Amino acid sequence: MKNREPIGVFDSGVGGISVLRELVSIMPNENYLYLGDSSNAPYGTKSLEEVRRLTIQNVETLLGKGAKSIVVACNTATSAAVAVLREMYPELPLVGIEPAIKPAVSEYPGGRIVVMATPMTLQQEKFHKLMGRYKMKARIICLPCPGLMEFIERGDLDGEDLRKYLTELLWGIVREKVDAIVLGCTHYPFARDMIAQVVGDEVAIFDGGNGTAREMKRRLAEADKLSNADQIGTVSFFNSRDTEEERRLCEYLLSRKSSSI
Ligand code: DGL
Repeated sequence: MKNREPIGVFDSGVGGISVLRELVSIMPNENYLYLGDSSNAPYGTKSLEEVRRLTIQNVETLLGKGAKSIVVACNTATSAAVAVLREMYPELPLVGIEPAIKPAVSEYPGGRIVVMATPMTLQQEKFHKLMGRYKMKARIICLPCPGLMEFIERGDLDGEDLRKYLTELLWGIVREKVDAIVLGCTHYPFARDMIAQVVGDEVAIFDGGNGTAREMKRRLAEADKLSNADQIGTVSFFNSRDTEEERRLCEYLLSRKSSSI
């Protein structure tokens, strides 16, 4: 029995399950603890200090439950707190997520690329640095999406209200040709099908879930912390909104097939 302690995965709500499913798919024999802070969500419209405080608190909860490593499966929490967390836990395999601009730009150099994310992610220095690396290589348009994560938190992945929200949000942008959309919030991959319907199938859609999962695997291997179990591991859900309905939504979202690039 080696390294059977769980990998801790954290998000402001249920969105990080889009990263969890990538983790489970590439490391099925690991055990997972998923913590969603839905009673405090959304984080993306809160102050930096508040998001940092909540993120540290939730990471500490996962470590208290025995997590051997942490995935901050939330772009907003990563941009607000990952640097502080790295200072606090220098030995811990800790991976955050950032909008997948790099793969979008390498596939569409010179293209018109829209980054959908929370207002906070787009305001942070971490994001400005990321933009700085790619803004000469493509036309990157930042699109804050306040209100979008709430549809996913309600389990509304394909309703008419969501279609109306996305149509209003995107219509001005898609009047001109868009090559790619980057989903810079972990909730948005659950609205991917609806986004594709609104913008058209010819627009490529990127999210950072798979890259983040691969990075966690690499970090665990490097630290010699990969589990040696030969059976499928377990996933335990915790949520600050502790209801039966919430648990069902988490299970449902995990069971949905990923279509990320
Ligand atoms: N899922 C989160 C992200 O990746 C944020 C949603 C929110 O709490 O505003 O940014």
